[in-house]
This record gives sequence, structure tokens and C-alpha cells, in this order.
Amino acid sequence: MNSNNDIEKIRKEIFDLQAKISAWDNAYYNLDSPEVPDEIYDVEFNKLKALEEKYASFFSDEELKNSPTRKINALASDLFKKVKHKRPMLSLNKAYSLDEIQKFIDNIKKITSDFSFFIEPKIDGLSISIIYEDGKLVRAITRGDGITGEDVTANVVQMSCIPKTIEYKESLEVRGEVYLAISDFEKLNLKLGQENKNKLANPRNAAAGTLRQLNSQIIKERNLSAFLYYVVDPLQHNIKTMQEEHEFLKTYGFPVTHEVQHANTLQDIEEYIRNFKNQKLLIDYETDGVVIKLNEVQYFDKLGSTAKFPHYAIAFKYEPNVETTTIKRIYATVGRTGLVTYNAELEPVEISGSLVSFATLNNFQYIKDLNLNENDLVYIKKAGEIIPCVIGLISGKKEIDHFQKVEFCPYCHNKLVDSETGLEQFCSNDQCPEIQRRKLIHFCSKDGLDINTMGERNIDLFLKNSLISNPIDIFNLKNKKQDLLKLNRMGEKSIENILISIDECKNKPLYKMISALSIPLIGVKLAKFVASKIKSLHNLLNYDFSQLIDYHEIGDKIINSIISWISNDFNKKLVEDIINLGYDLKDENESITNLLENKSFVITGTLGHPRSYFERLIEKNGGLIHSSISSKTNYLLAGENAGSKLQKANKLNITIITEEDLFKMIGQ
Ligand code: IVH
Repeated sequence: MNSNNDIEKIRKEIFDLQAKISAWDNAYYNLDSPEVPDEIYDVEFNKLKALEEKYASFFSDEELKNSPTRKINALASDLFKKVKHKRPMLSLNKAYSLDEIQKFIDNIKKITSDFSFFIEPKIDGLSISIIYEDGKLVRAITRGDGITGEDVTANVVQMSCIPKTIEYKESLEVRGEVYLAISDFEKLNLKLGQENKNKLANPRNAAAGTLRQLNSQIIKERNLSAFLYYVVDPLQHNIKTMQEEHEFLKTYGFPVTHEVQHANTLQDIEEYIRNFKNQKLLIDYETDGVVIKLNEVQYFDKLGSTAKFPHYAIAFKYEPNVETTTIKRIYATVGRTGLVTYNAELEPVEISGSLVSFATLNNFQYIKDLNLNENDLVYIKKAGEIIPCVIGLISGKKEIDHFQKVEFCPYCHNKLVDSETGLEQFCSNDQCPEIQRRKLIHFCSKDGLDINTMGERNIDLFLKNSLISNPIDIFNLKNKKQDLLKLNRMGEKSIENILISIDECKNKPLYKMISALSIPLIGVKLAKFVASKIKSLHNLLNYDFSQLIDYHEIGDKIINSIISWISNDFNKKLVEDIINLGYDLKDENESITNLLENKSFVITGTLGHPRSYFERLIEKNGGLIHSSISSKTNYLLAGENAGSKLQKANKLNITIITEEDLFKMIGQ
């Protein structure tokens, strides 16, 4: 039995959570400036939902009515004309597990046994409703609170992806999501940074902020995108399924996502969810889960809805990959460019199957913004391959109490310098042993020359024994065999392997060397561009880089960075020495043939050469490589033991080829 005291405590906890989440909702929906990352929001929201369910008897209906779990906390702003929606624009209920999806299906089964599903990515943008009369766009409205939205027609007509006229002449209302492509978001933040303006938190808020600008010109400049996924009153347009709806929207020129799938069973849904987990990392728009919709429209009305969401669709959210733990220690490290990164050593915690003991804190500004310090209880996020990151305090601190700025390089003890923006700190000492070490590690890494026998451990061993100090020493290791043999752990065989793999660099494409050199701002992508222009390493020293200014890949900053790097005597000598030792690498011909032009390939199973061999072969002949099968895939190159990709390709009628077939296709 709960005492009155206990009940009051629980009620207070719930009211506090409601207030906290409502404030977050306001910042997110109405100010376009989120206060916490989505993951923290989800954790707290679910906590509130569970508490409200468990202790429902402690509250009257009236008391729960305004909880953020029951109503949409977005308001239509006064800046735009308010318009009432013809049909409410609802939200979606969420599922975090297959069990919850099963419950959603069980509910449908109560009214029919003849149904299927249509699955789509859940686009992380803001919803929009667009109305056409007699084939002309007449009005566009934001969701607002779901009942009343803002008239943003003037802005939406500036979006090049939205058709202003369509061939369909009936009155039509279509709904979808306005978003900012990740690449456009990055460009925008780069530009805002250059103009010393505040950067935007994420693509979703950037899109929301942009769509609700009063200056329509900005919409044009920022290149907002949209996907449409819903037709209001579909039956009136003779649309009987969600799949037909997708086709209808496509036919009339609306932008739609391609990552959609028809499904019959929970197993099909599970497979989509599994595949999309990887696929979502490769697409140029942000998603926050997948939407599973009942395909057959005729049952929608019968299924009905709550005030907040319909029963014909559900949003599946991937596990948030967030855990809580304590920061044991904060320390700074220095990278190959001298950039200082703050890191946290953590009380080890398991996040989606792996044990996490360290996380990044980015820069000092990040620590200050989140008010982080040693011994704090924090949320940690780990998603995909990304380094785990501390994303916030579990409960806020009232007073400012954060870790202090590091003033001196922890390795060479030189005074650190602030970047122009003040956001970053650098060690500017060229001779800093840590910068040298990091440069060597990068030189041999995958993004550099990819010398797989020269990992961090061997580099540290050679550094400690003064066998290497800069990249040229790596190519000279072949003259130090006797010294190498004296090292513990080094047998003749492993030394031979190291020397062979270093020698093999002679046959590598030029861009790998350019990227290996750690020229500031030149990563793999730009290294490929530079390589395609200079053609061989010796041209790096005499090429006129200023002529590249007309290419959009490259700007002033990048050109100046290359020019200043080359004009440093040490770097010049390094390049000359590399060339003299026989490593004057050349640009590979970009493409040998165009026999595979515009054909998309997926590779699976065990083949006669490493997968990278086939990837390069396909790309050199004009083909494209994708990691997962979709209806757009042209060929599946399948080796032995091919698994689910083969099954899927069969299902989608995709041509399956062997490596022999591939060789024939390119005339080998
Ligand atoms: S269908 C309930 N499909 O997610 C109305 N919604 O959290 C039917 N969203 O309000 C929505 N991608 O703004 C649907 N492929 C998709 C979506 C999607 C994103 C948004 C939509 C909705 C919100 C719910």
C-alpha cells in the first residue's frame, strides 16, 4: 500500500517530468532550437509514459489531459496566417520492439484477416500539407498543433522539388515531410560559420527554421527538399492501397522516397528494419525510424485513431543506443593536425552489445555548453561506427561547474592556440611528438597508404626504438633489417611482410599518397580530386593550384592550404625524397570503359578476389556499388555462401551474376 507521502512524491515526479518535456517540446517545435538530443528526449518521454500508465489511478483525467504524452505541443506561430486543416494532421504511435509491432498487427486482425503493409523510412523533417485545385498549387500549411497550421504557401512555392502545377485536375491534398538533405545542411553550417553566425543544431531544425522564415528568398538559397507520402481521403481519388498511393504521387511528379517496401508478414517487416539500419547511414537525409502502414485503405476509418495518432500506422524506432554512466576522468588529446580533442574516461557501460569505456567530448566549448565535469552522471550515445559521445547530463546542475580549459599541450607542453572561431584549440608546434606520431599512423592507415602491417602498435614500437620519425623513414625501413630483427616480438617473417607491404605502395593510386601526407583540409575525397588534376606525385610541387578555383569542389581556403603546405621546405623535401625512392605514384585512369555505366551492383558471398577488387573493377568500368539490394539494383554479384541478399535479389527479380559473368561483361 502506498502512503499519502509516497503518492505525493510520485505525482511530483510525474508533474516535473511533464513540465520538463513540455519545455523541451516548446524549444523543439516552436523555437526550432532543441534543448536536448532526440535520444535524451525519447528516454525521458518513455519514462513519463511508463510512469503515467503505472500510476494512472493517482491522477484525474483532467490532470493528464495536458501531458506531453497526450497532446502535440507545437503551436501555429503568429507570423503566418493560421489555417484549419481539413483533416487533422496526426502524429504516430511508436514501437521499440517487434512485440509492439505484433500488438499493432493484432489490433488490425480484430477487424480483418486480409491485409498487408507498406513500409517507408520515417523522415526527420517537418510535416506539410499541400493543396491543389484544378492542377494548381493553392496552399501549403504546416502541421501546427495538428488542427490548425501556418500558411507557408509563399515559401513552399520557392521549393524547386514541389510541383506548382500537376496533370491531375481534381481537388487534391497531399502530405509529406519537408527536410534539408544532410549535404545541404553541412553546406549551410559551413556558410553560417564563415559568416560568424550561429550554426544550426541538426538538419531537422534547420529545415523547420528555414520553412518558417518570412524571407522566401532564403528558401531558394538553402535548397529545402521534401518527400510526399500521403494523399488525404485516398478513396476519393480511387487509391486503394498505400502502395498505389506511392505510385500515384510519383506519377504526378511529387518527390517520394525510394526506400519503400510492400510486406506481408512480421518477418518481412523485421527484414526491412534490419536492412534499413545499415541503409539509413548511406542516404542523404536523416530518418528517425521506419513507418509501418496498413496497406489497404478501406480499413483506416474502421480502425480509427486516438487524439494523437491513427491506428493504421506505427513508427518503429531503433533502440536509442544511449546509456547512462559516470565520467571518471576528462583529458585532452592532440590529433595529426594539432587539433585538441577533449575525451572522457567512463565507468565502463554496455551500449548495444559493446563495452564503452571512453567517449569524446569534442572541444572545450562542448564541455562548457553541457556544463560537464569529472564524476558527473551522463548520457552516452553510440551509433554505428561513430565514436561514442557524451551527449548530456542526466540531471542538470544549477551552478556552472565544468572542467577547466586545457592551456598547454599535454605532449609537448607548448601553449595551445585558439582557432579563429574560438571553437577549437590547436597545438601549433610542428615538432610535437604526438602530432608526428598521429601523422605516421594516418600515413599508414586505410585513409592513407593502407599499409596494413603498420598499425598503431608497430608504429609505436618503431618510434620507441628510433627507427622512424617521419614518413620517409618508413620507406627506408628496408635498410634497417638488422635493427628490426633486434626488436622483441619481431620475427623474420613478420619483418618481411612489413617490408613487402611497404614496397607494394609503389602500385597504389596517387590519391592515397596525397591523402596520406596530412595536408590540412585534404581528406580522401579531395585527394581524389587533386590526383585527377595533377596526375603524378612530382606535379604536386609544380602544379598551379590557383587554376582550380573554378571547380566547386574546392575553394580559396583549400587551395591556400595546399600552396602553403608545399611551400614549407620540410614538406617539399619529403615529397622529393618519396619520389626519389621510387614512389612517384600516378593517378589511375578514372575509368577504363563505360560498359557498366549507370548500372548498379551489390556484391555478396565469397569471391575469388577480395571484395575491394571487384568494387574497383566495377567502378573503373563506370558501374556503381551499393551496399544493399533495392528495386533499383541492376545486378547482384554473388559468390559462394551468399545469404539474405541473394534471397532478396531473387524476390525482386534482380539479375544475379557470377564473377565470370562480370569479366565477360567488361570484355575480359
Ligand atoms: S505517415 C499520421 N509516413 O512522422 C499521419 N509520416 O511522428 C500519417 N513522418 O506526423 C503519417 N515520415 O510528419 C508518415 N513516411 C512517413 C513519415 C511520416 C515522417 C512524420 C509525420 C508524422 C510524424 C509522426
